[in-house]
Amino acid sequence: MEMAQKLTSFASNLKYMTGFNNEFSSEAIENTLPPYGNTPQKCPYGLYAEQLNGTSFTSPRTHNKRTWFYRILPSVKHKPFEPYNMGNFNGDWNNRFPNPNQIKWDPFELPEDPIDFVDSLSTLCGSGDEKSRHGLAIHIYSCNKSMNDKCMYNADGDFLIVAEKGVLGITTEFGKLLIQPEEICVIQQGMRFSVHVEEQCRGYVCEVYDNHFVLPDLGPIGANGLANPRDFQTPVAWFDKDYFKPDGFKIIAKYQGKLFKAEQDHTPFDVVGWHGNYVPYKYELKKFNVINTVSFDHIDPSIFTVLTCPSLKPGTALCDFVIFPPRWSVAENTFRPPYYHRNCMTEFMGVLSGQYEAKKNVSTGSSTLHSMMTPHGPAASVFEKELERKTVPERVAEGSLAFMFETYLGLGLTEWGENTCKKRDESYYKCWEDLKSHFTELRV
Ligand SMILES: [Fe+2]
Repeated sequence: MEMAQKLTSFASNLKYMTGFNNEFSSEAIENTLPPYGNTPQKCPYGLYAEQLNGTSFTSPRTHNKRTWFYRILPSVKHKPFEPYNMGNFNGDWNNRFPNPNQIKWDPFELPEDPIDFVDSLSTLCGSGDEKSRHGLAIHIYSCNKSMNDKCMYNADGDFLIVAEKGVLGITTEFGKLLIQPEEICVIQQGMRFSVHVEEQCRGYVCEVYDNHFVLPDLGPIGANGLANPRDFQTPVAWFDKDYFKPDGFKIIAKYQGKLFKAEQDHTPFDVVGWHGNYVPYKYELKKFNVINTVSFDHIDPSIFTVLTCPSLKPGTALCDFVIFPPRWSVAENTFRPPYYHRNCMTEFMGVLSGQYEAKKNVSTGSSTLHSMMTPHGPAASVFEKELERKTVPERVAEGSLAFMFETYLGLGLTEWGENTCKKRDESYYKCWEDLKSHFTELRV
């Protein structure tokens, strides 16, 4: 746990509750929660009760998400919202000409000047519209400064944060989460959070507007496997005893695609106890239970789905979050790297560590976008090598971890993603230029 020690003060006495969006209860002071009911005339310790709803009041009980906070002041006490600088965090994809090419980005710049998580958010690509609550966006964060006396919430949807470099200390209204590289964190719609960092940090954020992430169904796999619910962690109640903020505390809201700022004179992290099933959570990707073939064929990557955000079409995800972890490959008489592919879905892939198995020049910090029906697959050099190799049981993807956001939506690039980030590798297409015909019956 060497990396965690960098955030010693943040991480001291961190505790989590386990389970996926369970009905949790947590108290920073004993007997904070009312003994029954949610809104007693007088809450214990003179606290206010406030509900946060993550689904409509009338959602079926199996999907209904809400949490009750018992806090020093309700969230409503703040000055009016004013527009806040958006930087590169925007959804300008709809005003731009589409680009169907295979796209690769080299690792995004790490900051030299001080910048915090929210100010560093830069949008690569996206689809849809926040007002109608349909779509998805992919952002990069690259920060080196803590959000001091500042928090953020997203009224438009959920954030799935994928840490690539550096440790994030995330304070939420529910408590604290420590996110290390190769861990993920989901901050759902409306949840207020602040990111503490002590080094250069970089990673990815997938924002979904339609729905919440859930664990994929397991079908014939059975009751266990892939990401197991007990490996998801939710924070325990914590509140900031340094309650009054005479210099002001900024609440940054993402609302209908724009950022806003409201000032208040006290911390929003004043929840002394809470109970509910609408929570932030983290997951260590190394805990993923990999399922794969033990006979033949390259199985579709859906077997590596950690979380899925369903669309209204059965079996079709607004966003599948998929990983490619180290594992045994044993398939016989099989071309083992990912097959050549044209997909009705859009695939955004990022490398969290090591070297991606199907491309020599796609390594830590790199990412790719393979859009709808745009062909992709192993580089020519990988194909030639794999064609001749004796296939014996072996470890693959050792020392590496890549992930994919897969969506049924077409993604449009932002100006930053296509041009101003200056990280696009214009020579990416060349990795397939040397593919040659092996057809034995060709007569010229
Ligand atoms: Fe693919």
